[in-house]
Amino acid sequence: KVIALLTGGTTGEWVVSVKSAATIAQNLDPARFEVYKIMLSQQGWFYEPADSLKIEVDRNDFSLTLEGRKIRFDGVFIAIHGSPGEDGKLQGYFDMLDIPYTTCDALTSAITMNKGYTKAIVRDLEELFVAESVQLLQPEGAAARVQERLKLPYFVKPNNGGSSIGMSKVKTDRELQPALEKAFKEDSQVLVEEFVSGREFSVGVFRSQGTIRVLPATEVIPANEFFDFEAKYTPGATEEITPGRMSEEERARVERIVTGVYERLNCRGIVRIDYFLEETTGNFYFIEINTIPGQTITSFIPQQVAAMGVPLTAFYTELLDETIGR
Ligand code: DAL
Ligand code: MG
Repeated sequence: KVIALLTGGTTGEWVVSVKSAATIAQNLDPARFEVYKIMLSQQGWFYEPADSLKIEVDRNDFSLTLEGRKIRFDGVFIAIHGSPGEDGKLQGYFDMLDIPYTTCDALTSAITMNKGYTKAIVRDLEELFVAESVQLLQPEGAAARVQERLKLPYFVKPNNGGSSIGMSKVKTDRELQPALEKAFKEDSQVLVEEFVSGREFSVGVFRSQGTIRVLPATEVIPANEFFDFEAKYTPGATEEITPGRMSEEERARVERIVTGVYERLNCRGIVRIDYFLEETTGNFYFIEINTIPGQTITSFIPQQVAAMGVPLTAFYTELLDETIGR
């Protein structure tokens, strides 16, 4: 099959996307897939077979012309975190062209890119808890609304962000305004959540031959105040344990809950769900879902696939077979 591997994108996460695509490119089975890596940026959509050669994609039908030969794609592996890869824009475009892709559909991608709306959809699932939160649509009066409704400490996040860019942990009233300003610089919506004390985990969920399956969860013990951008992408900056420390009861409950989230949101492909197990009750607190989870060498999905004892190449083959067809 002829596959376009899309990377880059228009947000601060594009550097992560480039690293994710590198891992994926190295692990796609050449016997099954002919892969063209295409970089999307503000400058355009380009295939770069050599340093000085840039071939622009024809966006009317998503094709490439190489040495007079037109190349069309059987499917697209989207490895763009944030816009336009994770928020439904490319999904809508490929739907219109009838080209299958590896991810959730346009609607699910658009909803799940928004942390606040996602919480509203999953919060009534059994055994699932969400932190108290306020979704802010404008900076005016934001601090007062937060202080009225929530108890310190808070997490302040761009509502449509990723990789902890623009995110702060706020421990005193004084820190709130600067944290809101930082987050509003990244996004027109900001989510403020009450802090949940507990152990943090992240777990991959995917569908294989019709069945929803859950990878071994990773437990995250950041050395920094929280799991920020540096902690996420600096090897060794965070202690990560896969499979994470959970009792048999906890593991079974987590698997039930995340399978329910995958179903409720009508997911496709590999997604990753971040959660806390609250310190005293052990309750599952949903943080967010990432529908294009990182595939860099320090990312969790490659670690979890390894912990399952499956070669990454076999995992990506299965993902492509499942989403774009055999
Ligand atoms: N947003 C980053 C890439 C992740 O979820 O892995
Ligand atoms: Mg994320």
